[in-house]
This record gives sequence, C-alpha cells and structure tokens, in this order.
Amino acid sequence: MKKEVTTKKVFIRTLGCQMNVRDSEVIGGLLSKSGYKITDIEEKADIIIFNTCSVRQHAEDKVWSAIGRTKAKIIGIMGCMANNYREAIFEKAPKVDFVVGTRDIAKIPAILKEIEKHKDSPLLEKKIYETDADFREDEIYHTGFRLDKEHAFVVITEGCENYCAYCVVPYVRGALRSRSSQDILEEIKEDIDAGITRITLLGQNVNAYKYQDTDFIELAQEVNGLKGLKEFGFITSHPKDTTVDLFKALAECRKFNNYLHLPVQSGSDRVLKLMNRGYTREFYLNLVDNYRKMIKDGTLSTDIIVGFPSETEVDFQDTFNLIKEVEFDKAYVFKYSVRPNTKAAEFADNIERQEKERRHKLILDLQKSISRTKNAKKNN
Ligand code: 5AD
Ligand code: SF4
Repeated sequence: MKKEVTTKKVFIRTLGCQMNVRDSEVIGGLLSKSGYKITDIEEKADIIIFNTCSVRQHAEDKVWSAIGRTKAKIIGIMGCMANNYREAIFEKAPKVDFVVGTRDIAKIPAILKEIEKHKDSPLLEKKIYETDADFREDEIYHTGFRLDKEHAFVVITEGCENYCAYCVVPYVRGALRSRSSQDILEEIKEDIDAGITRITLLGQNVNAYKYQDTDFIELAQEVNGLKGLKEFGFITSHPKDTTVDLFKALAECRKFNNYLHLPVQSGSDRVLKLMNRGYTREFYLNLVDNYRKMIKDGTLSTDIIVGFPSETEVDFQDTFNLIKEVEFDKAYVFKYSVRPNTKAAEFADNIERQEKERRHKLILDLQKSISRTKNAKKNN
C-alpha cells in the first residue's frame, strides 16, 4: 500500500503592485518544490501568507484587519510591510508566526518547516523574522510556477533609489539592483517554452536598468528579438529617465505593445520639486508629445497624488489642467498618505481629508469624461 503523504495547503493573499503578484508566484514555485500545495481557497488552507504593500496606510490597514479574521493555523507576513515593521509585527499582531522581508523570500520554505515543527507544542512556540538579506538570488525566478498560461511578469530590476519624497519603496525594497540580462532572457525563454506568448518587464523604474553594458533600450531590443514571443511591454517608467532614444528604439520593436505607464504625480512645478521628482511640467509634456509622435496608436496612463503636503488650489489646478491637456487613456489617482521614514513625513500633512477627497473626485470625474470621449471616438 502506498504511504499517505500529508501535504500542507498554503494560501497566498497578494496586495499591492505587480511586483508583489510576481513575488507571490515565486513563493508559490518555491513552496511547491518543497512539497506544499498552493490553494486559492483561503478556508482550506493550513497556512496563510500575506504578501503585503506599504505604499499607502490603507493597504496596511487591510492586512492588519485580515490577520485578525483569518482562521489558518500558521500565519506569515512577506512583502513591503515585513520590512516596514520587522519584528514589531509580532507585537501588533501576536497571531503572526513569521515575517520575511522582500529580499529574504527564498528562506520561506525552511522557515515554514521550522514553524511547523514547533506548532503543536505551546511550550515550544516559535516566531521567526528574517529581513536582512541584501539581494535575491536569480535562481528563485526559475521555478516555472506561473498563474497565467499566456502572459508572464518578468522582474528586471529590484528596489529603487530615486527617493521621491512621499514614497516608502526605497526603504522597504532596498537599493536598485538590475538582474543579469542573460538570466532575464533565459527566464523568458523558459516561459516561451512553457507556452507564454506575452510578457511584461517589471521594475519600480525600468528605465534605470543597467547590467554591465546592457541598458534598458538594449534589453528591450533583445526581448523583441526572442523567437516565439508575440508581445512585450514594461512597467513602470520614470519620466526623468525616459528618453526620446527609447521611443525611437521602441518604434522599431514590432512586438512592443505600445503601452506606456508614465506617472506624473503632479502638474505643479512647485509640488514636483517638493516631491523630488527630478523633472518639470514642461519636460513631462514634451516627453508625452514625443511619445505620441513616435509611437503610433500608443496608449498612455499615469499616476496622480492629490493632497501632497502644502498643495494649494493653484497647484491642484495645474494637475487638473495637465490631465485635461494630455488626455491620458487611464489615470490612477491617490490621496496622499504619510509614510514612515520618508522625506515628506517631515512636512505637515496639512490638507484636510475632505479636501483630499474633493480633489480626488474632481480628477476621477475628469478622467472618466476623457476616457468616455476617447472610447466613443475609437468605436466610431
Ligand atoms: N501616498 C499616496 N500615494 C502614493 N503613491 C506612492 N506613495 C504614496 C503615498 N505616500 C502612489 C504614487 C505611485 C503609486 C504606485 O502610488 O502615485 O506612483
Ligand atoms: Fe509594490 Fe510599492 Fe506596494 Fe511594495 S510598497 S507592494 S513595491 S506598490
């Protein structure tokens, strides 16, 4: 008779950006290799791992309350909140068993084994936190575990060192690291062999990619040349590092999906400066102009923050008018939220909640009407 194997079921709850979506796949792959079963039904899981986001307070609040509700026997925290709170998570949420930082995720299978060993004996209760690794090993990207069978996200850079005044990312994801171009191309080839036809290159600022002699333009060209790949795109671009040379190269890349996500954040030069964005309104508008001229049928989206410390009505109108002028295909609009350690946390968060909400709604309504008009034109 075959011996029965008990496989523990793991549910991974992902919050935040595409980077986290990809990290959850990486963990899914590493855990599957170690004999765990990944389930998408939370109630059936023995173990729950929250892959968390710290970009705004709201994202963190969601996790604190979800931890309170979960019935899983073992609870882990990975992602940006792990680096933001480290072992303080155990005080805030005593039910949590382990905390694993963004660069330490390869340790999760071993940590889980250790926690499981102790779990059934209250005397031996164990809490583990690991948040100190400096970088990730490339091999974690090669487990072949993919949730989507046609489209794949491929990490090209980890971390960020732009230090935008509002942003927690440099503190939770660490310094910028570009993966080796050979390894990235190897990963994409493995994906293609497994049936993937479309990929999105991922990084907090993809344009800053640089590995030895290979920069982002060269990487994009190499990806474009991969046999079997039908389409590629990338997120996210930082305007200060996005160039006309890149558009020129992309115009020649037959497989580029013509989509550019170019967060402007604000249309006011005064606020852009306070945000430490490194470009002006005019520079941004000029970039958009070039993109539209050089990439035929391109789509363009952006991110906006309303209610940044000291943002006046005039600053806000500058943002409003920029959106009107550019006519984005999509705009993601956020209310400013103070983040620990950041430069902006030193400024007074002096825009009232209702005022942030008013500005948020005005921009959403404006974008809605722009999108409606654009769609109507497209369908005609
Ligand atoms: N408050 C509000 N929005 C923020 N973002 C980043 N940090 C903050 C913050 N502290 C937004 C930016 C970024 C997007 C991912 O989230 O617009 O581009
Ligand atoms: Fe992604 Fe930034 Fe949120 Fe981390 S803090 S999950 S990097 S959006």
